Amino acid sequence: MLSQVRILGLSGSLRRGSLNTALLRAASELLPADATLDIQPLHALPFYDGDVEDQGMPAVVLALKAKIDAADALLLAVPEYNYSIAPVLKNALDWATRPYGQSALDGKPVALIGASIGHHGTVRAQLHLRDVALGTNMHILNGAEILVTNAEAKFDGDLRLTDDRTREMIRQMLRQLVLWTRRIERTQHEVELIA
Ligand SMILES: Cc1cc2nc3c(=O)[nH]c(=O)nc-3n(C[C@H](O)[C@H](O)[C@H](O)COP(=O)(O)O)c2cc1C
Repeated sequence: MLSQVRILGLSGSLRRGSLNTALLRAASELLPADATLDIQPLHALPFYDGDVEDQGMPAVVLALKAKIDAADALLLAVPEYNYSIAPVLKNALDWATRPYGQSALDGKPVALIGASIGHHGTVRAQLHLRDVALGTNMHILNGAEILVTNAEAKFDGDLRLTDDRTREMIRQMLRQLVLWTRRIERTQHEVELIA
């Protein structure tokens, strides 16, 4: 059984003032005792290009895949752009599935969080990410999505999450993600024993 559950956080926004990246930082303060969260920046990733892949996977992509492989679960912060997943995050997930047949996402437990300045809190982008999870065999935690609406009012000037209700929801979601990860790990172990 896993002693500590290692969670890797990826944010689909590159900007310094990102509310989604700030949500990941808030999550790192709200973890249960048996979990850790490492936030992996995506600034250095090139845009996916099959010609680049054919010349050999870039070192930065291999490093990202190694981080995902080493993580027990992913926490994805999903900005919503034009009703869908911000391309920075989708690009990272696309690279992580390459080369074909060697996806780092296969079987990975995942939780979703997202902040938007609008009234829908990234729900449309998160639903699209669930489609991506079907195609990549990621196991998304159900019923515990974090949808932060009107988000700029919920952080202070230092981008610290000040909204107590959202902080409590993230705390509970992280507890559920740890249980979900342990459950999937146990099931995968049992399947290996049978096979
Ligand atoms: C290209 C673009 C499209 C956007 N489309 C949406 C949208 O469809 N729904 C929404 O709620 N917010 C939308 N927004 C606003 C974002 O929610 C807001 O910029 C948010 O702060 C982005 O996340 P970040 O703070 O982590 O960078 C859009 C922003 C950009 C730049």
